[in-house]
Amino acid sequence: MPDDDCIITRRHYNYIAEHTRGDDDFLIELKKAAEAADIPRIWISPAQASLMQVILKLHGAKQVIEVGTLAGYSAISMARALPAGGRVRTIELEPKHADFAEDWIARSDVADKVVVLRGAGVDVLKTIETGSADACFLDADKANYPKYLDECLRILPVGGLIMADNAFAFGRLFEEADDESGVAAVRRFNDYMAAEKRVHAVMVGIGDGCWVGVKEA
Ligand code: DHB
Ligand code: MG
Repeated sequence: MPDDDCIITRRHYNYIAEHTRGDDDFLIELKKAAEAADIPRIWISPAQASLMQVILKLHGAKQVIEVGTLAGYSAISMARALPAGGRVRTIELEPKHADFAEDWIARSDVADKVVVLRGAGVDVLKTIETGSADACFLDADKANYPKYLDECLRILPVGGLIMADNAFAFGRLFEEADDESGVAAVRRFNDYMAAEKRVHAVMVGIGDGCWVGVKEA
C-alpha cells in the first residue's frame, strides 16, 4: 500500500458503522427534534459514541465534564456508560441548545446523571473544583480547545481521561482554510496536543477524528 494512501476510507467508515451499535429509538427521536428545532446536525457519530462509552467503562469513569452540549446527544451517550451515582456535567453557551438538551435529558433514561452548566467554556471550567472529575470531553469552539485542555488538566488527576472531538476538522483537515472556519484552529490544537508533555494521547480515526489521552503528570 502506498504511504500516502488513506486506510480509513468512506467504505471503512460505513463498515465500522454497520458493525457498531446504532442509536436507540430515543436518540433517533432526539435527533429528529433537534433538526426540527434548527439545531446544527453536528453531533458525534454512533460509532464514536460507542468508542467513548467503551473507553469510559474501561476507565471506570464516574465524573465526566463535557465542553459543548449542543443537543445533549453525547452527554446522554456518555452518561449511559457511567455507574449509578455517576454524573456528566456538560457546559453550553447557547441558551437555545441548553434548553433543548435539558428538556431531552429530563426525558432520558439518564436524567439523574446529566447536569447542564450554562455559560462560556473557560468561565464555567474555572468554577469546577480540582480533582472533581475523572474524564473530560472537548467539543465546543475549536479556537478555545487549548484553554479547555489547560483547565481540564487542572481538574483531572494523573491518569485522568481526555477526549476531544473533530481532530479531522470536519473532514477538511488538509484543506486550505482561514481561521474563521475552525479548520486552522483544529490544526493548531492537534499540534498543541502532539507537543503536550502532560498528556499521552492518540487521534483515533473514528467519526471526525477523536483524540483520546491520559494525563501523565
Ligand atoms: C462543527 C463542530 C463540531 O463540534 C462538530 O462535531 C462538527 C462540526 C462545526 O463547527 O462546524
Ligand atoms: Mg464535535
